[in-house]
Amino acid sequence: MIKANELREKFIQFFKEKGHAVIPSASVIPENDPTVLFTTAGMHPLVPYLLGAHHPEGTRLTDVQKCIRTGDIDEVGDASHLTFFEMLGNWSLGDYFKKEMIAWSWEFLTDEKWLGLDKEHLAFSVFAGDETAPRDEESYGYWREMGVPEDRLFFLPRENNWWGPAGITGPCGPDTEMFIIRDVPPCGPNCSPACDCGRYLEIWNDVFMQYNKQADGSFLPLAQKNVDTGMGLERTIGVLQNVSSVYETDLFLPIIGEIETLSGKKYGEDEAVTRAMRIVADHIRSATFILGDERGVTPSNVDQGYVLRRLIRRAVRFGMSIDMPAGSIGKIAQVIVREYKHVYPELGEKEAFIVEQLTLEENRFAATITQGLKEFEKVVTHIQGTVLPGKTAFRLYDTFGYPLEMTIELAKERGFTVDIDGYNEAFKKHQEKSRAGSEQRFKGGLADSSEQTAHLHTATHLLLAGLKKVLSPDIIQKGSNITAERLRFDFNFPRKVTREELDQVEDFVNEAINAGVDVTMEEMPLEEARKSGATGTFSSRYGERVKVYTIGNYSKEICGGPHATNTAQLEGFKIKKEESSSAGVRRIKAVIGPEYKK
Ligand code: SER
Repeated sequence: MIKANELREKFIQFFKEKGHAVIPSASVIPENDPTVLFTTAGMHPLVPYLLGAHHPEGTRLTDVQKCIRTGDIDEVGDASHLTFFEMLGNWSLGDYFKKEMIAWSWEFLTDEKWLGLDKEHLAFSVFAGDETAPRDEESYGYWREMGVPEDRLFFLPRENNWWGPAGITGPCGPDTEMFIIRDVPPCGPNCSPACDCGRYLEIWNDVFMQYNKQADGSFLPLAQKNVDTGMGLERTIGVLQNVSSVYETDLFLPIIGEIETLSGKKYGEDEAVTRAMRIVADHIRSATFILGDERGVTPSNVDQGYVLRRLIRRAVRFGMSIDMPAGSIGKIAQVIVREYKHVYPELGEKEAFIVEQLTLEENRFAATITQGLKEFEKVVTHIQGTVLPGKTAFRLYDTFGYPLEMTIELAKERGFTVDIDGYNEAFKKHQEKSRAGSEQRFKGGLADSSEQTAHLHTATHLLLAGLKKVLSPDIIQKGSNITAERLRFDFNFPRKVTREELDQVEDFVNEAINAGVDVTMEEMPLEEARKSGATGTFSSRYGERVKVYTIGNYSKEICGGPHATNTAQLEGFKIKKEESSSAGVRRIKAVIGPEYKK
């Protein structure tokens, strides 16, 4: 039986042999993308290249990407939902297209050297066509050439066979999906991969990205035709190992085993125990990857930190329901680190930090939960009707640290619902800060590389150079986030930066802007970039060839772009705020524009 490690290795090896460069997984926390909190698919970090930017590693890429999707967090606990997963993928950036990709998919799935799956047990779907894009006869024809009979090929509509964009705008196109046929009889004459009777299980998706969806809903053809494929590791390995849930694959067995030891309960002994164990395993796995990320955050009440807090607290709560003793989640994380560090060395490097942060949050939660529960019991006795007011739910959160979803669950157990709109309103009022954060942003699209964000990105490089000059050459970037209005930049520094120092940094940036120097880009091997003195932020994560952006004598940095072409485009620069971000890390918010010209 194929193991998860083997599937990862085989996939990457196969595409390496087909001339693909193996690139490292990007961070789970996207940089300079204000519209999403986490990386949700393998293609996500590659959007600029799918839109036509030149990738330093070439036009054929493959990787295993760490992904987080928390939109379905409430579904976790069933057989298949996960908040963290790994996606195996390969890309053609305007290189090969449908013909090659379908032949390779067939080869990888069926050849003895690779997965060697039984051809009779494979089915495929292709796009049926509609008013915006034609029926994909081409892909259908290529599958037929592979010898796939007509009764195992399905034309399906847009809701099944179209992928993307990942947000509101961006690259998208028809896809062809691959399924394993299980020994479940067809559910009727129209049984197809579109129904969920369990006969067809999806294992891989080849997207043919030919379109760029615009904000007005129209589709423009992309200048280059791309291939974007995605194979969810957990789901696929579950199908290949023929188990009834992803939690029974070799990826999860050691984690579930640890939870059994800690709780003294058995997975499968009853439904509630199984569900709780799955939630604990899933949530702690995600929390471990968020904390262990090279851009790892700590639990907080905004943005990624808030999601992390929810994951940890939910895991603790379900852990309690199966009698897991205090301190258990750190132990579970250690098992996860042990199982994954050969693929993601950052987890091994940050193990102590991961365990420390989980334990801290567990303790914080323990202190508030008892009080929150008491308070909840008190308020429900006073409610008229069956709706818990939003304001009350918010007070439980704000004063007692009791998360909304836990209030919802508790309320549900007692036959109440929660006025979520009211909660959101109260939340907004009290937490100006998190307005941009939390759940709203999951619904957003991927960032458009607009001019303004490109200009702010260039301002970020100048800011870093200015901080190095004024404060210390040891300053490094700890995080960056850009919206259309402002930049936000985190860096290591032990104390508050004085207004005088900030003025000097501002002057440095404005001098560079007034000098009107060109921003130039060169591609080179990583080693050469280092030797040339280029600043690099997340060293372990670069591929072998990198882009280096130079701004005259002011700045030289390894970066993916995009940037302004000349510093004059920034017009003026002002630091609006300097504050603490976390221990030893300061945060600056800054803006650009003609009104800040100096
Ligand atoms: N973007 C597609 C997916 O997420 C294929 O990689 O499934």
